[in-house]
Amino acid sequence: MTSVRPPEPNELVPLDYFSPLDLASYFNKDGPLEVDLGCGDGRFTLEMAENYPERNFLAVERLLGRVRKVCRGAERRGLENVRVLRLESLYTLEWLLPEGSVDRLHLLCPDPWPKVKHHRRRLFQRPFLQAVQRVLKQKGELLFKTDHEEYFEWCEEHLGEFSGLERLSWEEDEFFYPKTDFQIQWEAEGKHLQGLRARRVV
Ligand SMILES: C[S@@+](CC[C@H](N)C(=O)[O-])C[C@H]1O[C@@H](n2cnc3c(N)ncnc32)[C@H](O)[C@@H]1O
Repeated sequence: MTSVRPPEPNELVPLDYFSPLDLASYFNKDGPLEVDLGCGDGRFTLEMAENYPERNFLAVERLLGRVRKVCRGAERRGLENVRVLRLESLYTLEWLLPEGSVDRLHLLCPDPWPKVKHHRRRLFQRPFLQAVQRVLKQKGELLFKTDHEEYFEWCEEHLGEFSGLERLSWEEDEFFYPKTDFQIQWEAEGKHLQGLRARRVV
């Protein structure tokens, strides 16, 4: 007999993994939606949610230990605008997020898959960009950061070839944007991160 894991506090467990989520039923209040893909230990999502209580935040992460950490962090901080989904990022974009439902999508410090034979595993390529365009609202934004120079160039190239999103400038301190756990760790090691910001073309 298989046993079903009880959900964590603030965990979003879809009723149906094959239909778009009824997002309003999972959040207490209506508000702009921001999605953090591969949220890791969740520092970024939690700080954003604390700073923007009027917005809703969906953190997506495939590792259970990290999901638990973010859920408990949200509970400890009393954040009612955070939900955590344990699922694969591209599947979430392609199958669960309704069309035109997301204000901002964050992809921060994702695995760069540096070996050429692994490049096909990189998230940032055409199917991802098509899914991003589909779920973003008009003028919704994608924000991306990496410390990996070659992956950054790859992303710039893929973005440049995709007409559904237009690149925007992103000045440091242009708006509140807390550092992620990996960013803090990598910057302490002397690494430099680069960012890309793009908007859905209307
Ligand atoms: C390098 S960490 C970055 C975490 C966080 N964004 C940060 O900057 O601190 C990448 C995270 O993405 C998660 N991840 C990698 N591929 C994923 C996928 N396809 N779907 C969901 N999560 C994924 C990993 O488990 C890991 O927690």
